[in-house]
Amino acid sequence: MKGMIVKNMSFKVGQTLTVVGVPKPDAANFAINIGPDDQEITFHMNPRFNAHGDENTVVCNSYQGGCWCEEHREGGFPFQQGEEFKITIEFTPTEFLVTLPDGSNIHFPNRMGAEKYSCISFEEDVRIRSIEIK
Ligand code: GAL
Repeated sequence: MKGMIVKNMSFKVGQTLTVVGVPKPDAANFAINIGPDDQEITFHMNPRFNAHGDENTVVCNSYQGGCWCEEHREGGFPFQQGEEFKITIEFTPTEFLVTLPDGSNIHFPNRMGAEKYSCISFEEDVRIRSIEIK
């Protein structure tokens, strides 16, 4: 994986992860991943400006047992190349509840069912300015 990975974190049910970042000026796509380790991804959130056949679409999925599972597409696309964004991801008892920069939401089920995940990673065309878990 190319990008930045934070291991040995603790993101638990009831907590909210806030991410501030800036897509590169020529960004094609970027991703935020949450999972139990660096092999599996419970929540992959992939804003695509122009990538994998999609334009201005947020694609979410999980990666388990070496395969991508069923894609989930929800919400608009409140991201712009080169412009700072702030998103929050609330870890509720059943799902990851994302609030996008325009206030709209994405609901993604906690398909692996754990109450705590320790790996957060960032991939592709984004510069992360800060992450905070509260
Ligand atoms: C694939 C892409 C992966 C991931 C996945 C989500 O096409 O290569 O990086 O975004 O879709 O379903």
